[in-house]
Amino acid sequence: MHYDCVNGSHGLPYDPFKAIVAPRPIGWIGSKGKSGIQNLAPYSYFNAVADKPHFVMFSSVGIKDSVKNIEETGVFTFSLATEKLFDAMNGSSAPANYEIDEFKLTNLPYVKGKFVDAPYVKESPAALECEYWKTIDIPGADREVGKGTYVIFGKVVGVYIDDEFITDGVFNASKARPLVRLGYMNYGVVGEENTFTKNRPQLDENGNLLEVKEWDGVYR
Ligand SMILES: Cc1cc2nc3c(=O)[nH]c(=O)nc-3n(C[C@H](O)[C@H](O)[C@H](O)COP(=O)(O)O)c2cc1C
Repeated sequence: MHYDCVNGSHGLPYDPFKAIVAPRPIGWIGSKGKSGIQNLAPYSYFNAVADKPHFVMFSSVGIKDSVKNIEETGVFTFSLATEKLFDAMNGSSAPANYEIDEFKLTNLPYVKGKFVDAPYVKESPAALECEYWKTIDIPGADREVGKGTYVIFGKVVGVYIDDEFITDGVFNASKARPLVRLGYMNYGVVGEENTFTKNRPQLDENGNLLEVKEWDGVYR
């Protein structure tokens, strides 16, 4: 099939877009309002977007509590959502009022950031502490009526890693077993059973690709 997604229709029961752009990492975003009320919510329109300096982004459909808090206080955290933490991650997405602290709602212990005043999930194997940079309102967004999509960017100023997940100097993502978001109500888990390593490709003297070997442990 092939369809015009601006003026046409897919004709399917549900929009396949998010099932195509998958898997997506889950940005489990911790924040705190000026009021002091804490907040935790998952966002799968999330990713790392720059390395030096580290930047992450997530996008919110409407001005949700996370957006309100972050624009108010200028800080937030990311906690790595893992297979073990699925119920808490999912629970923290419940349509809870601003007054409800999702750490309490889901019985999740939290840690106060070391570098920013926002909480992250104590049991997460890794967390990022972020300073808010800016929001980009996607065309069509209308803050007056709270409609539209808002993309929050943050600079990572601190990183937490549970030492248990460092193996031979490398963050062992397969051991952490991160959740990934697929389309519809589908999820996946990254583990040893579905990961592999390869070196970057090299060319021979004639410009042809050489056989690509298993990763030799040197990150290029
Ligand atoms: C795995 C998962 C991913 C989600 N991704 C998004 C997203 O990218 N954008 C969004 O607006 N809502 C997303 N949601 C819904 C929010 O988590 C939900 O609306 C939540 O209540 C927002 O919380 P807040 O108002 O405390 O920020 C997602 C929910 C789940 C379970």
